Amino acid sequence: MYRSYNYYPNNNYNNNNYSNYANNCNAYYMDLIPRLEEYIQDELQDSAYYYALAELAPTERAKDILIEFGMDEAKHAKNFQRAYYMITGRHFIPKPLDPIVIEDYEDALKIRVLAETKDYEKYGKEYLMAPNKYLQDLFFNTRTGEAKHAMRIAILFEEEGEED
Ligand SMILES: [Fe+2]
Ligand SMILES: [Fe+2]
Repeated sequence: MYRSYNYYPNNNYNNNNYSNYANNCNAYYMDLIPRLEEYIQDELQDSAYYYALAELAPTERAKDILIEFGMDEAKHAKNFQRAYYMITGRHFIPKPLDPIVIEDYEDALKIRVLAETKDYEKYGKEYLMAPNKYLQDLFFNTRTGEAKHAMRIAILFEEEGEED
């Protein structure tokens, strides 16, 4: 007896799989948008913080390093802003920055070591979740920047000891 043969027995399954994949990607981008907003805001805040900290630097070398950190964080914000625009078609308008209060230079450096290592971990997780090369590179490079900051803060403690 002749029976029509289904050449694509898994067609429905494959279609479902495909749409699940598309849905998963969509879900990823939907979740990423608020995270990018948070990152842009945080990077701008960090940038302003380093410029303020640079004003308290005990040596010219320390000052130069802190200004460079401030520029790096501004660049991170800009790079995230570019990704945000590619995904949403609009720019994120940041909120006004929180006022910067630095009570003690050395304490501020310690706080920053913790913040930088936390950011390093955070962007590392983003790198592992990123679905394409563009976002992987973005998070990997940002992560490298934060690692560099965390490690170079050691120089700033040294500079402080050489103050007098
Ligand atoms: Fe950063
Ligand atoms: Fe940083």
